[in-house]
Amino acid sequence: MIIRRVRLVSGLVLLTYLATHFINHALGLISLEAMEAGRIWFLALWRNPLATVVLYGALTTHLGLAFYSLYRRRHLRMPLWEALQLVLGLTIPLFLAAHIAGTRLAHELFDVKDSYALIVLSLWNVSPLNGIRQAILVIVAWMHGCIGLHFWLRLRPWYSRVVPIFFSVALLLPVLALLGFAEAGREISDLMVRQPDWFDRTLRAANVPRGQQRELLAALRNWMLQGYVATLALVLLARAIRSAIQRRSRIRLTYPGGVEVAVPRGLTVLEASRFAGIPHTSVCGGRGRCSTCRVRVVRGWDSLLPAKPAEVRVLQRVGAPPNVRLACQLRPTVDLSITPLVPASGQAWHGFMQPSYLAGEERNIVVLFADLRSFTGMAENKLPYDLVFILNSYFKTAGEAVTRAGGVVDKFVGDGVMALFGIETDPNDGCRRALNAANEIVNGVNQLSQLLAAELAEPLKIGVGIHSGPAVVGRMGFGSAVSLTAIGDTVNVASRLQDLTKEYGCQLVISEEVAQHAGVNVDSFPRHDLTVRNRREALTIYIIEDVQAVVGQRTIK
Ligand code: FES
Repeated sequence: MIIRRVRLVSGLVLLTYLATHFINHALGLISLEAMEAGRIWFLALWRNPLATVVLYGALTTHLGLAFYSLYRRRHLRMPLWEALQLVLGLTIPLFLAAHIAGTRLAHELFDVKDSYALIVLSLWNVSPLNGIRQAILVIVAWMHGCIGLHFWLRLRPWYSRVVPIFFSVALLLPVLALLGFAEAGREISDLMVRQPDWFDRTLRAANVPRGQQRELLAALRNWMLQGYVATLALVLLARAIRSAIQRRSRIRLTYPGGVEVAVPRGLTVLEASRFAGIPHTSVCGGRGRCSTCRVRVVRGWDSLLPAKPAEVRVLQRVGAPPNVRLACQLRPTVDLSITPLVPASGQAWHGFMQPSYLAGEERNIVVLFADLRSFTGMAENKLPYDLVFILNSYFKTAGEAVTRAGGVVDKFVGDGVMALFGIETDPNDGCRRALNAANEIVNGVNQLSQLLAAELAEPLKIGVGIHSGPAVVGRMGFGSAVSLTAIGDTVNVASRLQDLTKEYGCQLVISEEVAQHAGVNVDSFPRHDLTVRNRREALTIYIIEDVQAVVGQRTIK
């Protein structure tokens, strides 16, 4: 947890530095003078003793943590974005050494005034190759930082709303900075033509290093580079030695379907999945923040060390049951059977706090079925385009009615709609809302009929069935077709009640349970007893010719 926080804070410091640097560069789009004026503020912000400690402390800490995290990775199989961030991060020091030696060290050691006039002159006009290197540096560093920021923020529920702004700023800042730099370079070219002594004056004013000073700066740059490369090589060597030792001892992990893999002991379960090429969601890249890698431990639970407090907090956040662990934090030392709980295509929202019923729960709910009458006959005489248009208009009407009434559209099937009510409240509330929805659907379909009168041989008619009772609720499906749904006898009965509206030629059929929960008086409506599978007594139902007659008898709130 501490390491994660330190990495995040140091990364934010570096990204802020880069952003202010970009803003300063972008002032070149106004003029070189504006750039220099902005630089005064930039230096006041970043070249005071405190900021110097913070900035270079953040740089060395971030680099040190990068080495540490590289060492801790048991293998280098990882998703593309993680690999990209790693490669970009490791590339930065290769370009940064020259920048630090040419600006900050030159200033501190030899009092060089690293003004924009001097820097743009040297990178744009004198040595464009160095300019390209520096452009690569800022782009690589910015991309590395933005990827990290994106993967940190995307675990926040509000982030999806601001992501277009994030991407716009992430793209615009470096583009404006590079354009500002180029514009300043063009202005300097003009100055050198118009004022032949400008070049010499600028070099004198900047107190550019010469002779031995330049050699010392070049040596310092090379030492930084060599130190970095040597440390990187040491880390890779240490990893290789550790892998060679660990490869001797293996454990077996069993996945659903009996898939069994043997992996070196010491890997986390997430690393083991990646090592074995088994898709395993890890939205935060194994940093123990998102919870999307969570697994149920089916066998071997007793052999595991208890979860650390940080892991416990993440598991509690998503309401995980006791036998669930984060795959990225769990390092089994003996054979284990696990079941990943988030599909391989998991998204950040899988790690947000979610109602427990989404994972599957039996609840007393209310199910509504609505179906267009005689639609099949109508469909035979319509062009496909007209048919799709009419159906979509009807789905919109029904869907909006359900949503306005506080229900959830479960699915559209053929010309029918299934909706659920009272999942998060209770059957009383659900039944009242379902009756309101039925009324709105009937009214909406009547209005739609009038609107499409020229297209229809006869007005659209609809039948609605509503029943309340226990059902298993949960998020079910596959891939992009995953949605909240309900299964069980209550669903089948509601569907059957809807079928009966054809038989009785009415708008609505409800069960006695619905009438009781909603608190409506149904004494004046025809009543029938229905034999229902899995139910000993007959189910009492009420035939309601006009839905308004039941909804209108009192305000159903
Ligand atoms: S991958 Fe995010 S918590 Fe494990």
